[in-house]
Amino acid sequence: MKPLKSVAPAKHLREKLVVPTPTIRPRRLRRTQTMRRMVAEHRVGVEDLIEPFFVVPGQRVRHEIASMPGIFQQSVDTLPEDVKAAAALGIPAVLLFGIPPRKDEIASELDDPDGVVQRAIAAIKKAAPDVIVIADLCACEYTSHGHCGILQEDGIVDNDATLELLARGAVSYARCGVDMVAPSDMMDGRVAAIRHALDASGHQDVAILSYAVKYASAFYGPFRDAAESAPAFGDRRSHQMDAPNAREAIREARLDVQEGADMVMVKPALPYLDIVTRVRKAVDVPVAAYSVSGEYAMVKAAALNGWLDEDRVVDEMLVGFKRAGADAIVTYFARSAAKRLAKQPARG
Ligand code: PBG
Repeated sequence: MKPLKSVAPAKHLREKLVVPTPTIRPRRLRRTQTMRRMVAEHRVGVEDLIEPFFVVPGQRVRHEIASMPGIFQQSVDTLPEDVKAAAALGIPAVLLFGIPPRKDEIASELDDPDGVVQRAIAAIKKAAPDVIVIADLCACEYTSHGHCGILQEDGIVDNDATLELLARGAVSYARCGVDMVAPSDMMDGRVAAIRHALDASGHQDVAILSYAVKYASAFYGPFRDAAESAPAFGDRRSHQMDAPNAREAIREARLDVQEGADMVMVKPALPYLDIVTRVRKAVDVPVAAYSVSGEYAMVKAAALNGWLDEDRVVDEMLVGFKRAGADAIVTYFARSAAKRLAKQPARG
């Protein structure tokens, strides 16, 4: 420490104080953009991003979702163009959600060989074979009541009856060439059931990205508009996780890995960054964070009002997910973020 030095008091200060001059100055490493770039501890790369798509029946359909400006429900024929644009930016993977033409109590369309997701998978694999196609696997978009599976008489989702449905859906996607299925239903034992069904039908190479840690969240609101999957009554609290719980997240993630999950997901992302960190430490498979529709809608709404700088806020969120420990990030901002990443100076 250098000798104490007296510092002239600022005008508004009455007393003259004696304070030490610092020799250790972390600010030195923040001085220039290049310096900050050199010492950055975490980076977002385009290879981290997964872009979601909502697929609907019909031809030349591109219908913007009111609560998610810039995000569309689109028909299968319009998908390859968008997916190729995403791939050209370096985005490695897409996540598909389907909205079937008909819904019923038992989600019959989930394993329709000619269903929207099935056709979308085949169309993308044909147009852009290298793109990793991940299909969300849940009954809520397919049931007339909007719940994630077969209902018991009391209106609660029947766990074991739903497993068979999910397994059928997974095999049906696998037949169309899907690379990964992503069960998002939160039934107990579904990863084991899906793994078994895939293996038994000769689809050993289809991976499972499990939504292992999915909270019952109000942040899914805009998605339910997009996927037309809001429950007609009740909610999803009997199977999705309760916000105060963190230890339980570890239990869910470990169980899914034991059952055969190749990757696990935490969802939502922003209000659950501590969970991303904990799950990252607890398991040795890649961990994805899903920045959900409500996170997108919040940023968009504020940006459209001129209250937030969208690009800077999004970049800060994305690096925050990486810092928390995410290996992959599902985000509706994937393509806009990828465009900015492409403009950054090359890094070694
Ligand atoms: C269920 C599913 C949901 C989301 C992804 N998969 C909705 C839900 O559980 O109600 C939410 C994604 C988002 O909000 O962006 N198929």
